[in-house]
Amino acid sequence: MNEFTLPLIITSVSGIQLSLRLLTEQDIPVLMDLERSAHSHPWRQSSFEDCLKGRQRCWLAEHNHNLVGYVVVTHGGGDAELLNISVLPKFQRKGIGSCLLQHAIECVRGYADMLFLEVRVSNRKAIELYSKEGFFEVGHRKNYYPTANGNEDALLMASQL
Ligand SMILES: CC(C)(COP(=O)(O)OP(=O)(O)OC[C@H]1O[C@@H](n2cnc3c(N)ncnc32)[C@H](O)[C@@H]1OP(=O)(O)O)[C@@H](O)C(=O)NCCC(=O)NCCS
Repeated sequence: MNEFTLPLIITSVSGIQLSLRLLTEQDIPVLMDLERSAHSHPWRQSSFEDCLKGRQRCWLAEHNHNLVGYVVVTHGGGDAELLNISVLPKFQRKGIGSCLLQHAIECVRGYADMLFLEVRVSNRKAIELYSKEGFFEVGHRKNYYPTANGNEDALLMASQL
């Protein structure tokens, strides 16, 4: 067993019982609904399908068997990257994002020295979450993300594992 084949994890956040498990192919339609509800520029379905092979992994958070969030993380060459984290809008600000992020950190600890991520400079909620969980700014990528009427910069952040 490695860090990506851990068994089902049951936890409780703000009184909400959550189970964490890996994505399967059958989850993808519901996952895409959440992805579209949480992002102005959602991932393509094929990006989640990539999580079913290789080193990229998507962990789902479910409450009463309903998907409420997910996190995508990968590692290689001594570094790790957080690729996506999303919480269903009506379940936000209840600690589920922190729970998923802490879980992603535990998954790559021991396989990498640093966990990196990119975030839109306008995404204050996510930047607050990452800062609270120990990430710090390491750079910018100019015009990295598309917006409705142009582009915006990415903030690069990292956390020592
Ligand atoms: C970013 C996101 C994953 C956070 O998930 P969440 O479950 O709401 O986060 P939590 O409840 O665990 O919040 C943890 C901390 O993040 C920060 N935070 C979360 N929501 C916030 C908000 N609306 N305003 C300010 N800070 C916020 C706070 O520091 C919070 O701690 P606190 O509640 O003790 O003050 C969620 O807002 C989301 O899915 N957003 C859309 C998708 C997205 O932007 N993903 C990131 C892509 S890089």
